[in-house]
Parts: sequence; structure tokens; C-alpha cells
Amino acid sequence: MRAVIVEQPGDVEALTVGEVPDPTPGRDEVLVRVAAAGVNRADLLQRQGSYDPPPGSSEIIGLECSGTVVALGEDVDDLTIGTEVCALLSGGGYAELVAVPRGQVAPVPEGVDLVDAAGLLEVASTVWSNVFGTAGLTAGETLLVHGGSSGIGTMAIQLATAFGAEVVVTVGSPEKAAFCRELGARRAVLYREEDFAEELKGSVDVLLDSIGAKYLAGNVRTLRRGGRIVVIGMQGGARGELNLAALLAKNASITATGLRYRPLEEKAAIVAEVVEHVWPLVAEGRVRPIVHDRIPLEDVQRAHRTLEESSHVGKVLLTL
Ligand SMILES: NC(=O)c1ccc[n+]([C@@H]2O[C@H](COP(=O)([O-])OP(=O)(O)OC[C@H]3O[C@@H](n4cnc5c(N)ncnc54)[C@H](OP(=O)(O)O)[C@@H]3O)[C@@H](O)[C@H]2O)c1
Repeated sequence: MRAVIVEQPGDVEALTVGEVPDPTPGRDEVLVRVAAAGVNRADLLQRQGSYDPPPGSSEIIGLECSGTVVALGEDVDDLTIGTEVCALLSGGGYAELVAVPRGQVAPVPEGVDLVDAAGLLEVASTVWSNVFGTAGLTAGETLLVHGGSSGIGTMAIQLATAFGAEVVVTVGSPEKAAFCRELGARRAVLYREEDFAEELKGSVDVLLDSIGAKYLAGNVRTLRRGGRIVVIGMQGGARGELNLAALLAKNASITATGLRYRPLEEKAAIVAEVVEHVWPLVAEGRVRPIVHDRIPLEDVQRAHRTLEESSHVGKVLLTL
């Protein structure tokens, strides 16, 4: 099959398209012919050699896809060949075929185009499990998301708004600020010009943080009493200094999670919850896929460049 290959980790030139052996589905797995794959920031790290797949996973980059079921493992009896699906992957999405544990396969939400569906499941699973699961956001509370126009951010704005929370975001440009407000954010702070911690101090209940060390002190400053920070990315570094007194004074908490390394049962449970709680909102049109660009697999270098430049809003998809 055709797949994206990385011979030597490095910058975008490390990405080439070549032929590799087809994957074979295990007993509990499904083989999907990929229509499109979502591009995630983590893919850039894997390309650079600093984000290895979990043991036993495909070495090929790609954490989510959509496509058609073409073969079933011996123990899978509740899916039929020919069904259109989307899938949460621990690797292997940038390829014509991918083998996926049954629990990480979801139907394409009603009314969503098969290609667009490629960019939904990873962000929905991340936002659902962290914002509503780990941090327990409730209606009326305020959620802060760093990088409101990212794949993650655009899902978080829509989902939290749909569940009755207020959303504030940080963004890098006025255009992105306007887009986030149109999507439902109450406020977008321009992080290059404004001090987000000063602007939002004491007003946030839940913070979905993809920056890490650089924002640690500022993040705590934004919290209300009982605030919860969930760290999902470390774009601003992994080692910071935390003043525990500031956390203690607010009865606040900080957690960090990574979807890719969770056990299969946890991922299956998250996907099932997403199908139950998020897909109906997608079917109603209250949460929609935000697709910045569809780029053919052969142009994978351009796709990674787009994310590196952060010139996108929402998801970049690779089409097969
Ligand atoms: N732990 C997990 O399970 C998990 C799962 C999925 C994603 N993630 C993480 O979530 C983050 C978003 O992923 P994605 O694929 O949606 O990435 P993406 O679309 O490439 O977005 C990256 C975002 O980071 C923002 N950003 C960069 N520097 C910033 C700063 N100093 N202050 C505020 N925002 C800043 C960018 O904002 P501008 O473009 O406006 O500059 C952009 O919106 C990544 O860090 C990713 O690793 C974690």
C-alpha cells in the first residue's frame, strides 16, 4: 500500500510517500481503507523523532482517519464490510490501509462528509475526556482554551458552548480571534499583545492547556476557587516552576493526560462516550467539523508546513 514514510526523523523533507506492506487486522481489529487522515500537532513531533508510537502500534504517522471497513478480525461480529467509519488511531493513519482496534472505530456522524469526518474523532475524544471527564466542566462554568483556532480549540469552543459553558480563548491574530468568537467564544485574548493572565485573572473554572511550562504561573492566576487545569500539550516546555501556595489558596488542581498512551479499554470507553454525547450534536449541526484544507497524501510536506506556520484554522486533512 501507499503510505507516508520517514526514513530519518527531521524537518518536513523527511516525509516521503512510498510502498509498504499492507497491515493485517488482529482478532479484535478492523481493517479500514482510508479516505482521509487528520493531521495533528503531535504528528510533527513524531516526524522529528520525539514522539514514538506506543509499543505494538504502527510506526506510520497518523492518529485519526475516516474510511471504509474492508476486513474484520475473527472476533469482530458487530460491523459489516463496506461500512463508512472514522477511527481513533495510535498510529498508521497516513496510509491507504490501517488496522484499528474495534473499540476505536465509530460511525461517521449523520450528515458529515466522509472526508471531513477524518478530523473529528481525535479532537472530540481529547476534548470530551479532558474537559468533561477529567475536569468535569458544567453548564455555567467558564472554560479557557489556549489556541482557540486549533483543531482542539475549535472543537472545545463548540462543545463547551453546546453544553452551556462560557468559553474564552487565546489566539495569535485578530482574524483568528474573530473566527473563534463567531464559533461561540465569548472572548478571545491576543496572546502576542495582551497578558492573558492579567486579562482573565480569577475568572476561569477549567483550563485546557497545550502550552505547559511557559504558562504555568499565568494559568494558575486565571483560575477561580476550585479551578481545574488539564495539561494536554507542552508547546511552551515541560519544566516550569509552580507556586503550590497559589494553587492551595484556590483549592485548585493540575492534571496532565495523553490520549495516545491510554490503555485500549480507556480509549474504547472514550470513543463510546463521544458517540453517545457528541455525535448527536454533530448530527444536529451544533458541532461541525472545521476543515482548513484537504491536501493529497503526496503533498504531506505542505500539510506539515501549514501546521508549523500555524496558518490554519481548524483541521488540515490528508486525502488518499
Ligand atoms: N494530550 C493529548 O491527548 C492531546 C491530544 C490532542 C492534541 N493535544 C495537544 O493539543 C494541542 C493542539 O493540538 P492541535 O493538533 O489542535 O494543534 P494545532 O491545530 O497545530 O494548534 C496549535 C495551537 O497552539 C496555539 N499556540 C501556540 N503557541 C501559543 C501560545 N504561546 N499561546 C497560546 N496559544 C498558542 C496556536 O495558536 P495560533 O495559531 O493562534 O498562534 C494554535 O492554535 C497540541 O499541543 C497537541 O499536542 C494533546
